[in-house]
Amino acid sequence: MLEVHLDEHDIDQQLRADVRQGLTATPKWLPPKWFYDARGSELFEEITRLPEYYPTRAERAILAERAAGIARITEAKTLVELGSGSSEKTRLLLDAFVSRGTLGAFVPLDVSGTALSAAVDGLTSDYPGLSVRGVVGDMTRHLRHLPEGDNRVVAFLGGTIGNLIPSERAAFLTDLRAVLGAGEWLLLGTDLVKDPAIVVPAYDDAAGVTAEFNRNVLHVVNARLGADFDVDAFEHVALWDPQQEWIEMRLRARGAQNVRITDLDLAVEFADGEQLRTEISAKFRRPGLEDELARAGFALREWWTDPQGMFGVSLSQATT
Ligand code: SAH
Ligand code: AVI
Repeated sequence: MLEVHLDEHDIDQQLRADVRQGLTATPKWLPPKWFYDARGSELFEEITRLPEYYPTRAERAILAERAAGIARITEAKTLVELGSGSSEKTRLLLDAFVSRGTLGAFVPLDVSGTALSAAVDGLTSDYPGLSVRGVVGDMTRHLRHLPEGDNRVVAFLGGTIGNLIPSERAAFLTDLRAVLGAGEWLLLGTDLVKDPAIVVPAYDDAAGVTAEFNRNVLHVVNARLGADFDVDAFEHVALWDPQQEWIEMRLRARGAQNVRITDLDLAVEFADGEQLRTEISAKFRRPGLEDELARAGFALREWWTDPQGMFGVSLSQATT
């Protein structure tokens, strides 16, 4: 079953506002949630299988080892997943919860209706005893539509929290805390600070899949807002920012570009070499994350990493 809180009209309204704001700003930027049309979601899945992209493999290894413990500690009745995508790794959690016998419902939420409906179809047939209810929505706006219940676990995997800018991240955690009761759980995947020689190739792979994923946002703006970006005239850039400890993905104009965005009645000029920021992907350290969680009203109870210390999964509890 799919519940839609973000229809085509809402998506257009949001995209229009974001594109007008981001492309008239200096420097120019666009929010990363617009990567994920059907093609963008497929490209992301392809990224997760690249040799350079370690986060998915590292997080899967942690979940494989810890899922039974997570089920035992939380005894969840409902598992909610934010930015769920294919919910591929989540199956490790579902298997553990199902064998523990406490779980009745799984509620994945994602902005990408295509990725979500494929995931919900697969999960509904593979977990016949479970109620699977997909929510098409924006986790920064639609948390109030999460199902009521007690003893819920909210999983937010993949390191996607790192794609929110710090102010959005703080607001998101506070909003999430507000919809949970004391004692309910947040299972959070975070990519960790490490040698840029490992991080940068993960965002600039040899096969060029991440470059395609990055440029996909221009295809989305062309298709949805009648823009005429010459997509191939923009080069993929992945840059490590050592102060902020995040990767920035950008698109660099090859030659001056004049872009017309018909639905906004807007002309946007790019100088030769001008860069458009399309994503940040923040990397975390345990103490900073623990502080951020505490400020939002979550107490960190468990912290697990993969053997190489690449990725962290934390289990936190909403405090009173
Ligand atoms: N959790 C999966 C997918 C990560 S990709 C994994 O770990 O592999 C990021 C996912 O978040 C995509 O499916 C994208 O559509 C979704 N997403 C991005 N911004 C979102 C937002 N604001 N609200 C809801 N979903 C969002
Ligand atoms: C979804 N998110 C956690 C990915 C990341 O690593 O920040 C998106 C991505 N961007 C480039 N490659 C993958």
